[in-house]
Amino acid sequence: VTEHNNEQHILDSLMTAVVVLNKHLKIAQMNASAEMTMGVSADKVLGKAVETLFSREDGTPEALDLAIKDNRNFTKRKAVWKLHHQRTLTVDYSVTPNADTGEVVIEVQPLDRLLRINREEAMISSQETSRNLVRAMAHEIKNPLGGIRGAAQLLARELMNEELEEYTRIIIEETDRLRNLVDRMLGPHKSSEPEQLNVHEVLEHVMSVIKVETAGSTKLVRDYDPSIPDIKADRSQLIQATLNIARNALQALTEHAEHLDEQPRISFITRIQRRYTIGRQYHPLVVKVSIVDNGPGIPPELVEDIFFPMISGRAMGTGLGLAIAQNLISHHGGLIECSSRKGRTEFTIFLPLDKKHA
Ligand SMILES: Nc1ncnc2c1ncn2[C@@H]1O[C@H](COP(=O)(O)OP(=O)(O)OP(=O)(O)O)[C@@H](O)[C@H]1O
Ligand SMILES: [Mg+2]
Repeated sequence: VTEHNNEQHILDSLMTAVVVLNKHLKIAQMNASAEMTMGVSADKVLGKAVETLFSREDGTPEALDLAIKDNRNFTKRKAVWKLHHQRTLTVDYSVTPNADTGEVVIEVQPLDRLLRINREEAMISSQETSRNLVRAMAHEIKNPLGGIRGAAQLLARELMNEELEEYTRIIIEETDRLRNLVDRMLGPHKSSEPEQLNVHEVLEHVMSVIKVETAGSTKLVRDYDPSIPDIKADRSQLIQATLNIARNALQALTEHAEHLDEQPRISFITRIQRRYTIGRQYHPLVVKVSIVDNGPGIPPELVEDIFFPMISGRAMGTGLGLAIAQNLISHHGGLIECSSRKGRTEFTIFLPLDKKHA
């Protein structure tokens, strides 16, 4: 039994999905990656036919029969497997029969996930490039602002004419507005101060702010996993990032209130996710914080670009909120993802958990 447990433990630590079939092509063993890749739980499918996992359409099970009969390994690239729930999966897979036991080992590399990781990496680096550009520009804009403001103040003191003072007042107000904008573009002044904190405490704070801003128009829903351990993070940065996302949700809901079929609603959902890759870094355990609204959805022409600075769908928007949020979360080794359709927009913050919880 211990040997079997040990073997299962090793299998479970693999990134590759592994399924072992007995000589009747019934599922004998399956590792954790395989469960995740195929969206099933091992105890529900053990002992069942291999077709439970994927349909016969692409000829995979027939190929398995042949492999066993001829006792031959084979590898297939870019096979498209039909799973249940209409899901399809593009995979490379190898089949190795064992002549002595009659067992067959199938190793599966899901390509969809690799594609996702590659895409994500490209996204992270291009977002970083544009953030750096914006920072550099912000610095250049900020430098002369102090001079302009100071000169306008001096001028105001010399002017004896109230009507003309109106002009210097406008110069001063507009430079102040520009400086606020530029400060936002430059990000937080102080360096981060990580502490052990509870994500729910952060969410409660964000909800209390949002609650005041909605004035009762929007329902706020909690769906927490209370077992989530504390994480090490900068409290105010986490609040800022979450608030930017929640505020967008609220703005989308209130600006389109008349088109909603249901009562406007924002849900705050927390979960633990096992085995997640952020950029290039693999994490055994991450915290998932989702903020979901039932608003109109993100305009399709924007959805690819919303994390870039200066991208906004709102008349009064500066388009900085999400770029700042992504920046803050990436400083924590995390990532924000988004999916959106009419009636359901979800922003998910992934934050890696300390190794000691894994
Ligand atoms: N929950 C959401 N529902 C619909 N659209 C959204 C949602 N969240 C973001 N968006 C779209 O993404 C755009 C970019 O958001 P972002 O927070 O970066 O900028 P902004 O809200 O326009 O301006 P700022 O946050 O700087 O005041 C928004 O203008 C909006 O069009
Ligand atoms: Mg915003």
